[in-house]
Amino acid sequence: MGKDVIVACDFSNKSEVIEFLSKFKEEKPYVKIGMELFYSEGPEIVRQIKSMGHKIFLDLKLHDIPNTVMKSMSVLSSLDVDMCNLHAAGTIAMMEAAIKGLTREDGTRPLLIAVTQLTSTSEERMRTDVLIDKPLDEVVIHYAKNAKKAGLDGVVCSPLEASMVHNACGMEFLTVTPGVRFEDGDCGDQVRVTTPEQAKKLGSDYIVVGRPITAASDPVEAYKRCLREFR
Ligand code: C5P
Repeated sequence: MGKDVIVACDFSNKSEVIEFLSKFKEEKPYVKIGMELFYSEGPEIVRQIKSMGHKIFLDLKLHDIPNTVMKSMSVLSSLDVDMCNLHAAGTIAMMEAAIKGLTREDGTRPLLIAVTQLTSTSEERMRTDVLIDKPLDEVVIHYAKNAKKAGLDGVVCSPLEASMVHNACGMEFLTVTPGVRFEDGDCGDQVRVTTPEQAKKLGSDYIVVGRPITAASDPVEAYKRCLREFR
């Protein structure tokens, strides 16, 4: 399981994403669909990309009462996505309900990954805005352990946190890691970045790569380079 490159398709409409994906003739990259594309195009975009032969990580980060999350996850499961996610802050009860909703009659289900603390949240913001006064790392690990307890498959984290998560939750617990840049590439707005090769050494199971592939002059070659460096 794992060791794959997920391409973050952060496009705002269907024609852009389909035009981008049609460049890939032989390879069928794992695709991340985020809120922007899903909210503008609806579930049909998931069906369409799936029918083109891609695996899909649907990044909608659910966080609501357990019953609502359970029913919503059941809908996402019927869309046949391969991976989806939620906020661990929604509690263990919410995460257990999510697993229940995702699990199909035949016992199969998409992978379910938790967001611990968003990388846009600082320790100071946690303390002042949401009254969490523990160190950020401790909160991340506590949330990861809760996710594991609820039966989830892993967490989204920085490659720099991957070994800490594996030490706390086991090597089988997946780390899905954004913040990846080529050695000779532009960092953009990402601050703590690693190369695909470093992410591999640090133990990431899946790297999520957006602009280094989507904005490359040759996206197919950039994707292949990611695979070569990461696997
Ligand atoms: O273009 P780039 O490679 O920076 O894209 C990274 C993707 O991963 C984006 O879709 C971004 O929203 C997502 N992401 C992230 N950092 C997180 C969680 C998700 O960059 N902590």
